[in-house]
Amino acid sequence: MGTDSSTQRFGVFGDPIAHTKSPVMHNAAFQALGINGNYTAFHVKPADLKQAVQGIRDSGLRGVNVTIPHKLAVMEWLDVIDEGARIIGAVNTIVNDDGELKGYNTDGIGYVRSLKEECQIELTGKRIVIIGAGGAARGVAYALCRERPEHIWIANRTIERANELAQSLQPYGKLSGMGMDGLADIKNEADIVINTTSVGMHPHVADRPADPAQFNAGTIISDLIYNPLRTRWLQEAETRGCIAHGGLGMFVYQGAYAFEYWTGKPAPIDAMRTAVMDSLEL
Ligand code: ATR
Repeated sequence: MGTDSSTQRFGVFGDPIAHTKSPVMHNAAFQALGINGNYTAFHVKPADLKQAVQGIRDSGLRGVNVTIPHKLAVMEWLDVIDEGARIIGAVNTIVNDDGELKGYNTDGIGYVRSLKEECQIELTGKRIVIIGAGGAARGVAYALCRERPEHIWIANRTIERANELAQSLQPYGKLSGMGMDGLADIKNEADIVINTTSVGMHPHVADRPADPAQFNAGTIISDLIYNPLRTRWLQEAETRGCIAHGGLGMFVYQGAYAFEYWTGKPAPIDAMRTAVMDSLEL
C-alpha cells in the first residue's frame, strides 16, 4: 500500500532497531483490515530520544512503539502515563491523540493474553513461578497479578532482587522471592513456570535457566524468548511431559494491544503471527 496525506503513520523507536519484526507485523495488520496505515522503524539513539518524541507530535504519527533501551527514559517526555505502565515503570506503546502523548505497557498484558489463549487456561487460583527479577519479570508479574493467581514465586540468581520485586508488587497480589535453589522445593506446587531471563536466547542456545527435571509432567513451562522459537529448556521440558509455551505469542499480542489502542479495531492476530513467522530466518 502506498502512502499519501491520508495515510496514518506509525513507528518504533529503538537502538539497535535493524532486526525489529514490528514493521512487518503491523503493516500486515493494516493490510489485512484494509487500513491506510504505514509503520516504520526509527533508529533513535538515547541522546536523541527527547527530540524523537517531539517529532511524534510534529509529524503527526498516530502511534509509536518503544523498545530497548528507551522504555524507561521515554516516560519523562510523555503527557500521560497509564496506571499499569506507571506501576511497571516502563512504556512500550505511545498513543498520539491530537498532540497529547499517552504511554502504555502492553508487554505484560500481551504475555498474559498469549498464555491464556495458546494454553487454553484460566490463571485465577493458579500457582505460578517466575524465573528472573528484571524489567521483563516485573511487567509479566504485574499483569499476572491482575488475573488473581493463588501465589507467584519469583526465583532469581540474585535473591535480593527476587525479594525486592516480590515486595514491591505486594499491593497487587501474593508474591514471594527466592533463590534458584528454591525451585526444587516447590516442584509439586507449581502449575506454571515462566522464564523471563535471556538465558537460552540466540546465540547461546545451549544454555538453560533451570533444569527441567525440577518440574512435574503436566506443568506449563513458558519462555519469553522467541529466538529460537523453542528454546532448549522448552524442548527438554516437553520431553518430560510438560506443556511448552514459547515467546512468539507475547510479541504478537503486545503488538495486538498496541494496534487496538491506536485503531480501536480488534487486531488480526493470525495475519500478524503469520507475517512474523514468515520473516523469521528459521
Ligand atoms: P530484562 O529487562 O530483560 O528483564 P534485566 O533487568 O537486566 O533485563 O534482568 C535480567 C534478568 O535475567 C535478571 O533476573 C538476571 O538475574 P540477576 O538479577 O541475578 O542478574 C537474569 N539473568 C541474566 N543472565 C543470567 C544468567 N546467565 N543466569 C541466571 N540469570 C540471569
